[in-house]
Amino acid sequence: MYSLVLKGGHPLEGEVHVSGAKNAVLPILAATLLTREPCVIRRAPELSDVAFMARVLTSVGAKVRIQDGAITVQAPRVRGFGDYELVRKMRGSICILGPLLARLGEAQVSLPGGCVIGPRPIDLHLKGLRALGARITIEGGYVCARAQRLRGTSLFLGGRAGPTVLGTANVMMAATLAEGVTVIESAACEPEIVDLAHFLNAMGARISGAGSPTITITGVRELHGAEHEVIPDRIEAATFAIAAAATRGEVTLRGSRPEHYHAVLDKLVEIGAKVERRLGAVTVKGARRYRPADITTQPYAGFPTDAQAQMMVLLTQAEGISLITERIYESRFMHVSELARLGADITLEGSTAVIKGPTPLSGAPVMASDLRASAALVLAGLVARGETRVKRIYHLDRGYEKIDEKLRQLGARVTRVRD
Ligand code: EPZ
Repeated sequence: MYSLVLKGGHPLEGEVHVSGAKNAVLPILAATLLTREPCVIRRAPELSDVAFMARVLTSVGAKVRIQDGAITVQAPRVRGFGDYELVRKMRGSICILGPLLARLGEAQVSLPGGCVIGPRPIDLHLKGLRALGARITIEGGYVCARAQRLRGTSLFLGGRAGPTVLGTANVMMAATLAEGVTVIESAACEPEIVDLAHFLNAMGARISGAGSPTITITGVRELHGAEHEVIPDRIEAATFAIAAAATRGEVTLRGSRPEHYHAVLDKLVEIGAKVERRLGAVTVKGARRYRPADITTQPYAGFPTDAQAQMMVLLTQAEGISLITERIYESRFMHVSELARLGADITLEGSTAVIKGPTPLSGAPVMASDLRASAALVLAGLVARGETRVKRIYHLDRGYEKIDEKLRQLGARVTRVRD
């Protein structure tokens, strides 16, 4: 296993290129199963989750080649049976269910495990696919789905925490080959869903309304191959923006789409950081003093749950009491106890974290638990005086491409060491 060793107190300065979006490329890779023709996905980030998804596609019969950030997938024949262990280990792979069902009329995919941020149910995925006419049973830990021909319908996909991103992706992909028109109400509006719809339409699908709560899909007989460049990763961009503010540095983000993380930039300005947008670049400049803030995570375009842990680190440096309420997941506060080891003063009241600041942070060994909590610990290590060792950074490598290299280019004192 590997750890990151950070020596804090150095402001981040310079430019960083934002990689392709993990949460866009995963469903887009699944969508390549909808055609027997080759597809080329460009700007794919070099992440363990992407490599994992490539293995999942291979396990159902696709040929996958990864070269210089471009992934070529060809699936002339596919099996409806996803490797149990593979699919169980990465939730994102649940989105091969819709494409396999639409292409073959049957699919067996293992139930995704929960993870530290919550049980991660898929009841809405199954509700949507059943509405399209699939017969679905749960047998031996597998989702077993069958359908002679999927039929278009109108369906409501909202859950108790609002829309489902991958649920919308699964149903939208299945509906591309269904007979007739499908209307998804309470669809997820995330940019990753819009990117997936762009790719599907390039394959010959007929989708409108992506990015709004109502998506309309008119089924077609078959889809053809396509090439696509993935959108930039808005959560990676948000993470570096927050890191610039937290270290009181000045960082220019190249290649990001600021409109995709507007809620985060808006909050940084409210707290006291400076944000400039110029010619496709975003520059974030830290300030000497920060105001406290009140944040509630929401579906897009609200404040993203995937940037909540990172923002909490910055708020430990604000002068006063800040509140962060997590409305998307049941338990996405695993980072709080680890931040306390570094000196943060945070108490949990149900789904709200109360952050008292400013508190000086001092380095200590901490343990990563999930992808974004790990990012928060790295940010805290950049701020804390002394040395911080973040263990189990395989969590981090799932969603951040070469994060230690990118941070070193910005002047951070960070090294990757084998435990
Ligand atoms: C996607 O997960 C992202 N992952 C997550 O990012 C992100 O946090 C999440 O969307 C919310 O924005 C990928 O895109 C690979 P959901 P997803 O279905 O689609 C409940 C990261 O850090 N729900 O939108 O799995 C669910 O429990 C990851 O990059 C149901 O109740 O999330 C949650 O409370 C973490 N039933 C809420 O909806 C369902 O059938 C949102 O979940 C599905 C979801």
